[in-house]
Amino acid sequence: MKFEDFLYTQNGADLFEKTEGLDNVLSSGIMTGSEGLGIRLCEKTSPEVKIKEKNGCEHKVIMLGSNSYLNLTTNKKVCDASIRAIEKFGYGMGAVSVYAGITDIHKELEKRIANFYKTEDAVLFPSGYGTNIGVISALCSSGDIIINDSANHASIFDGSKLSGADLRIYPHNNIKALKKILEKLKNSNAAKLIITDGVFSMYGDIAKLDEICDLAEFYGAKVMVDDAHGLGIVGPTGRGSAQLYGVEKRIHLNVGMLSKTAGAIGGYCATTRKVAQYLRHYARSYFFSTALPAPIAAGLNEIFKLLEHDRAGRKELWENINYIKNKLNKVGFNTGNSQSGIIPIIIGDETKLFKMHQDLRLSGVYTNIVTYPAVRRKDCRIRICVMKDLSKKQADKAVEIIAKTGKKYGII
Ligand SMILES: Cc1ncc(COP(=O)(O)O)c(C=O)c1O
Repeated sequence: MKFEDFLYTQNGADLFEKTEGLDNVLSSGIMTGSEGLGIRLCEKTSPEVKIKEKNGCEHKVIMLGSNSYLNLTTNKKVCDASIRAIEKFGYGMGAVSVYAGITDIHKELEKRIANFYKTEDAVLFPSGYGTNIGVISALCSSGDIIINDSANHASIFDGSKLSGADLRIYPHNNIKALKKILEKLKNSNAAKLIITDGVFSMYGDIAKLDEICDLAEFYGAKVMVDDAHGLGIVGPTGRGSAQLYGVEKRIHLNVGMLSKTAGAIGGYCATTRKVAQYLRHYARSYFFSTALPAPIAAGLNEIFKLLEHDRAGRKELWENINYIKNKLNKVGFNTGNSQSGIIPIIIGDETKLFKMHQDLRLSGVYTNIVTYPAVRRKDCRIRICVMKDLSKKQADKAVEIIAKTGKKYGII
């Protein structure tokens, strides 16, 4: 039984028959994390963190699997603001935004996000996944055309499917192929939306937003960018992938997640006043889903205060990214075309990937494991996410362990 086997489930007379496959895979031991694919944390996420194994043993690992790139989850000002809000509003809202789920704290956050992107308004969603689902399915429907990069996040594909629009997909970052699709559609009256990740979550590279905007304008399409992993990291002052390419004013829908750099949960869409107003009434994951807790929104206001002035430690993060990437390349790893805090190590063999991932964890380094359906099986990889507070000593130790493991499995 292989990992991939459980992904193909069969419909039988019994609805739950399909659960057997996964159960067999899990009991075969192929999922090598201490918790399925992942791990159980014993303390707050930091560059070195204690985790618990299945047998109850606890040990430290160097954390290369967290998206809290700037370590803002543990920032004192952020946590203090959150505690003050919990005292004032309690720990949850108890209602969707359209009923009783909004406070001044939420409105301040929406304003800060809109200002950050220099847009008229921004809508806050209770989850990042729900942001993509809600925005896409509210704006697109049958008869419209959505054009996706093949490496877009799953939530973009799910939102696209849910919308009922016609779906076109171009190979990852292949602008020629995108142009071909648009050229074929040039006589169609259908409304068109090009959607791309800013920073691609499984590759760490960045969409060619200047060329995408040129094509969109020429062929009359709108552009939506999900910059979940670009916020606070990419661009001259950390305003993301659109800033890197100088196309901030040309993006129609700036989607981002509050779960990565911002370290909490939630998502947003920064856009025009009218589109934001429309989303608040037609995006079902907004309208029918309980609002972000006020303590989270309060912490996020502090985070945006830091990001607005580029004072969240982006430069230190980039030193770490470049340091660790150069070291990995020097020892011979293929890290693809990473341009962000995400560094893939291409393995290309699922059996080796799982074994290597487990060896790494047991030797004291935690990384993410990425295979189908997130990427093609032959491109399966270990994904490293770099944090600002990682010390050079920790980075050196991590690379030493990764190199030793890579040699053992013939990757380098
Ligand atoms: C590019 C991208 N979009 C959307 C999401 C979903 O965000 P969240 O985890 O906050 O729901 C993620 C994270 O998994 C992501 O990487």
